[in-house]
Amino acid sequence: MPKPLLILHGGAGRWRAPKDRIDKALRDIYNALEHGLRFLKSGSALEAVVEAVAYMEDSGSFNAGLGSILSINGIREMDAGVMDGYSMRIGAVAATRYPKNPVRLAKVILEKTDHVILAGSGADFLAERMGLEKMPPPSNDIIRRYNELIEKYKKGEITYFKGNIELAKELGLLDTVGAVALDQDGRLASAVSTGGVWLKLPGRVGDSPIPGAGFWADDLVAVAATGLGEVIIRSMPSIRLSILVHQGYSISKSGELILDYVTRMCGLNTIGFIAVDRNGEEYIGFNTEHMMIAYGSFDKKYAKLLSRQ
Ligand code: GLY
Repeated sequence: MPKPLLILHGGAGRWRAPKDRIDKALRDIYNALEHGLRFLKSGSALEAVVEAVAYMEDSGSFNAGLGSILSINGIREMDAGVMDGYSMRIGAVAATRYPKNPVRLAKVILEKTDHVILAGSGADFLAERMGLEKMPPPSNDIIRRYNELIEKYKKGEITYFKGNIELAKELGLLDTVGAVALDQDGRLASAVSTGGVWLKLPGRVGDSPIPGAGFWADDLVAVAATGLGEVIIRSMPSIRLSILVHQGYSISKSGELILDYVTRMCGLNTIGFIAVDRNGEEYIGFNTEHMMIAYGSFDKKYAKLLSRQ
């Protein structure tokens, strides 16, 4: 009988925020873990990852849900994805503006439609029709940070079509959220959610709604990636990790090989990921300065801001 396990991440990047903001984020990710574990006890891995990610979306501490960053035109467009490894069903949303919890909309797509990904106005239409809670306006803090970056843009330090990805790398504003879980019936699931990268072009889609890139779950492994969406889509770490595990590599060896591959091909400060296999073995790896994680089984729980060795 597998030992149920839930692992969360609050983003790979560079956490340069003041100590009180980091402490709040650590409390929020820990509370999200406890919240998710309650669903893991009574329900499925799928419910646990969705509820844990929705909790992090609501916290405002991460670049997802209420904490989502703004596009170049000051609009929030969010991506999310969820996959149930048992049924191999997927739901994902891209560039959605309406829901407060994009991950819940992704779950609706998985459970109630025949589709895999809905984007833009179509995703918003479904969110409204399904009665999902509407996203309130961005917080003053998000608007202040947006205005600071717009000043840089006006000085020519960021151009309209190029520069925001380098900016994301430099500032480390990559704090997407994600979750992977194994439940007591041996089912695996993963979920991710993000506001994307600061000052992105309207309509930009990152890795989070792309199965095999930002997330994956099947009979052997569940993966959630974080980092620069463009890099993650080019390198497809989640499906690569699953393929290696299916070929018989351990989850930790597979994780190391994928992390080396992405770092070699795309450079440092680009990616992090969490994964769990059906035996309850995990892999947590990143090539950025930091990654915030929370780890929980029924008898052991912690949240940490990890630093690169
Ligand atoms: N991983 C978040 C993004 O680049 O969209």
